[in-house]
Amino acid sequence: MGRETSGLVALVLLLLLVAAAAGASDADAIRDLAKSVAGLGRAWGGAGDDVCGFSGVTCERGGGGRVTSLSLPNQGLTGTLPASLSTLTALKDLQLQGNALSGAFPSLAGMGSLTRLALDGNAFTSLPKDFLQGLTSLQYLSMDDLPLESWPVPEAISGCSSLDTFSASNASITGDFPVVLANLASLRNLRLSYNNLTGVLPSGLSELIAIESLQLNNQRSERKLSGPIDVIASLKSLKLLWIQSNEFTGPIPDLSDLQLESFNVRDNMLTGVVPASLTKLASLKNVSLSNNNLQGPMPEFANTVTLDINDGNGFCVKSGPCDPMTTTLLEVAAGFGYPLDLAVSWKGNAPCSQQWIGIVCSSSDVSSINLPNRNLSGTISPAIVNLTRLGKLILSNNHLSGVIPDVLITLPNLSVLDVTNNNLTGQVPKFKPSVKVLAEGNQFGESGDSKGGGGGGSDGGSASSSSSSGGKPKSNAGMIIGIILAVIILFACIGLLVHHRKKKNLDKFRPVSSKTSPAESEMMKIQVVGTNGNSNGSSAVPTELYSHVSAANSANIADLFDSHGMQLPMEVLLNATNNFSEDCILGRGGFGVVFKGDLNGKLIAVKRCDSGAMGTKGQQEFLAEIDVLRKVRHRHLVALLGYCTHGNERLLVYEYMSGGTLQEHLCDLQKSGYTPLTWTQRMTIALDVARGIEYLHGLAQETFIHRDLKPSNILLDQDLRAKVSDFGLVKLAKDTDKSLLTRVAGTFGYLAPEYATTGKVTTKVDVYAYGVILMEMITGRKVLDDSLPDDETHLVTIFRRNMLDKEKFRKFVDPKLELSAEAWNSLLEVADLARHCTAREAYQRPDMCHCVNRLSSLVDQWKPTNIDEDDDEGQTSEMGLHQQLEKWRCDDFTISDSDTFSSFNMARRYN
Ligand SMILES: *[C@@H]1O[C@H](CO)[C@@H](O)[C@H](O)[C@H]1NC(C)=O
Ligand SMILES: *[C@@H]1O[C@H](CO)[C@@H](O)[C@H](O)[C@H]1NC(C)=O
Ligand SMILES: *[C@@H]1O[C@H](CO)[C@@H](O)[C@H](O)[C@H]1NC(C)=O
Ligand SMILES: *[C@@H]1O[C@H](CO)[C@@H](O)[C@H](O)[C@H]1NC(C)=O
Ligand SMILES: *[C@@H]1O[C@H](CO)[C@@H](O)[C@H](O)[C@H]1NC(C)=O
Ligand SMILES: *[C@@H]1O[C@H](CO)[C@@H](O)[C@H](O)[C@H]1NC(C)=O
Ligand SMILES: *[C@@H]1O[C@H](CO)[C@@H](O)[C@H](O)[C@H]1NC(C)=O
Repeated sequence: MGRETSGLVALVLLLLLVAAAAGASDADAIRDLAKSVAGLGRAWGGAGDDVCGFSGVTCERGGGGRVTSLSLPNQGLTGTLPASLSTLTALKDLQLQGNALSGAFPSLAGMGSLTRLALDGNAFTSLPKDFLQGLTSLQYLSMDDLPLESWPVPEAISGCSSLDTFSASNASITGDFPVVLANLASLRNLRLSYNNLTGVLPSGLSELIAIESLQLNNQRSERKLSGPIDVIASLKSLKLLWIQSNEFTGPIPDLSDLQLESFNVRDNMLTGVVPASLTKLASLKNVSLSNNNLQGPMPEFANTVTLDINDGNGFCVKSGPCDPMTTTLLEVAAGFGYPLDLAVSWKGNAPCSQQWIGIVCSSSDVSSINLPNRNLSGTISPAIVNLTRLGKLILSNNHLSGVIPDVLITLPNLSVLDVTNNNLTGQVPKFKPSVKVLAEGNQFGESGDSKGGGGGGSDGGSASSSSSSGGKPKSNAGMIIGIILAVIILFACIGLLVHHRKKKNLDKFRPVSSKTSPAESEMMKIQVVGTNGNSNGSSAVPTELYSHVSAANSANIADLFDSHGMQLPMEVLLNATNNFSEDCILGRGGFGVVFKGDLNGKLIAVKRCDSGAMGTKGQQEFLAEIDVLRKVRHRHLVALLGYCTHGNERLLVYEYMSGGTLQEHLCDLQKSGYTPLTWTQRMTIALDVARGIEYLHGLAQETFIHRDLKPSNILLDQDLRAKVSDFGLVKLAKDTDKSLLTRVAGTFGYLAPEYATTGKVTTKVDVYAYGVILMEMITGRKVLDDSLPDDETHLVTIFRRNMLDKEKFRKFVDPKLELSAEAWNSLLEVADLARHCTAREAYQRPDMCHCVNRLSSLVDQWKPTNIDEDDDEGQTSEMGLHQQLEKWRCDDFTISDSDTFSSFNMARRYN
């Protein structure tokens, strides 16, 4: 008995001791805290030994006196938190927000009483591995704006089964959207804005039946939150949804079950028509939809709703309904779940604008829907039947499911329906015999399969199943062999068909090849062709900078590029060039074929690069070159409007130049049918070209060298003003290194001697070629003429020789020129310039700006009113300092040496 009593007493004593020890350790922990956190010590120091008396510390009444609350917000505290904090196991409330506490946040593992934890705005750098472990009572966790190392939301959070609020915005959370959050059925507020979250919203989120506020906006990772937002539709308690500045796609789901007040999805990639379930939502106060790819009619909300919807969407009209054709096509897109690539191009209210991918019209009715190989899923909308003029419906090689709507058989003009290789079920409707139906590779029911060409086989199949119960084994075996044979034949047919189709596709996209001169085939380049032919007025127009003119001329075209920057979808170019039809070929050049195209009534030139020549140039390199070409903008240089990459295809888009090439106007008159150019026209062209090249040579910090200047690269507009095209050989040269040793590339006859022999490239290479062009303009002869004796084939040689004898030279000049005495004098000056441009030694050739000054003074004398003066004045404002200096230097030279070109050593100064 006594033994038992003493045992009991010992137990009680032990318990008391433990309690005392616990109380003591709480006090120790608070004292530790006072030591490691600056800003508390003094406040707490004077308060004696009872930590429960410290300000901000709350203890249990009576008993053990355990610390239950530590509330120290916004007190400017610095320092770190001690590890002993976790011994405060009775703590319910830990509030440290708004301080400057730093270092590693200590483990709180197992603090099963903790209900509130607030850490916002401190400077903690890391979280413990067991963060949130065992915090089974936690209801409120707030940890915004912490400069933590990146961390994923730990699985342990699923143990916090009473969590009501989890706010960790701007807290360096990384990884895919934490699926584990779907376990927190009590969650009402979830805020994970400004983190580095990626991935999709898991469908499990629909478990968050209590959630009222969901903020996932402004993820900062390279890839943000993405995918559809369908799961939102099941969050029936949701009042506030902020998911702006992510990469969500797909349509806005049906929100009619929700009591949403604030809905912000701006700056995503949402598609489709804004559903009435949103616009009619009575609870709504605040809506933000801008900068998505939303389509259809401009949504109309009650006027009590604060709106941000206008910017950057593809709505068809400012108010009211869309065109019926638009409406129908949007229903078709809805069937496919409003895929992003369609939404990007199917915007506005003009399906026949040629911008709509896959839509072909004839006399402003949709005549074909052409969407093969687009990874489309979803179903074929019966609304298609409203496109009464539809001739072709091509949806092959997608993942479409459901049935082919029966109503489609009523389409009067349907001639082709191709749904091969989808997942369609049901039966192929009975179309008129005039409709070509291609439906292989689907899951159509047995009787619907007859279109597949194996009708007999299918019948055998059903026969076999019905006869199997009582039939004779022998006939059964025969049946089975028959079926196998039928199946084999069927597969063979399908195989052949597929093969055939593949071949056809290959044919269609057969790489372009072109005849190239040996020199050209050596080259690797992007070539530029085409230009601008619509300066609506006469030659008096150009009182503006080229860039302005260009902007105005290409305004409509620019709209087309809106959605993609410079990039155009292949479909648009296929449409524009009538599938790269032979009839559209403008010319074949070094690196591919140039097609004339019609983009919304604007003529363009499309360079389809020879894939052989482009083979070694990867996508990145190509884009880098595009970037360079984009910088080169001048009224006398052909401007790049856009480009397209599609598999191995590389396409460049330029404005169309209606006046042909200088080549055609000089040497190929018989073929081209142009009338010979007058001397004034030639001078004007020469000056235009010189200005273009001068700009290339002195472009800001960079020097561009054309390297393949020749008359076929000089394009004319309807007013016979010239632009230099084909920057294919332009090499970017650093200012410090204007001479590049590169593979020789160019065209025989125009190659400067030092370039041809050593491959050394300087701007003087272009000056030489320019000189040759001047000679061609003076004589109307080709630079190389094989029909002449060997010593006369090269124009430069005979030109220079003939210049020595005035009478010989007079006969040598183009007989098609009718020259006054005045014109003759100016021709002699230009001839002199040409001679010096083609000097054997590079340093003896003048700079391009010299040519410009020389020519412009001649042109002024000759016909002062006709030629624009604007360039020099206008461009000064846009010129870099470097360029201005260049110009002044050049002007000086002209003044000091304006009478003759007699002393060519002057040119040395510039080398
Ligand atoms: C994110 O938190 C840091 C402190 O960690 C703060 O300086 C910054 O302003 C916050 N950014 C935003 C967008 O709130
Ligand atoms: C978040 O992503 C951005 C952009 O990729 C990156 O600069 C930043 O360092 C990332 N932050 C964290 C915490 O991983
Ligand atoms: C609407 O929501 C935005 C954020 O989505 C917020 O900045 C704005 O203050 C809200 N306006 C109203 C009137 O609630
Ligand atoms: C095709 O679509 C599915 C979903 O619809 C997507 O997961 C897949 O990545 C897509 N494939 C391609 C090549 O775009
Ligand atoms: C065709 O259009 C009419 C109105 O233009 C519409 O009432 C009808 O529902 C449409 N048909 C389908 C199948 O969408
Ligand atoms: C068709 O659907 C099945 C499942 O329903 C799927 O496994 C298959 O990949 C689908 N085929 C195509 C071509 O989408
Ligand atoms: C459509 O069909 C009608 C008669 O069925 C015919 O007159 C008309 O030319 C066809 N239109 C086109 C674009 O095929």
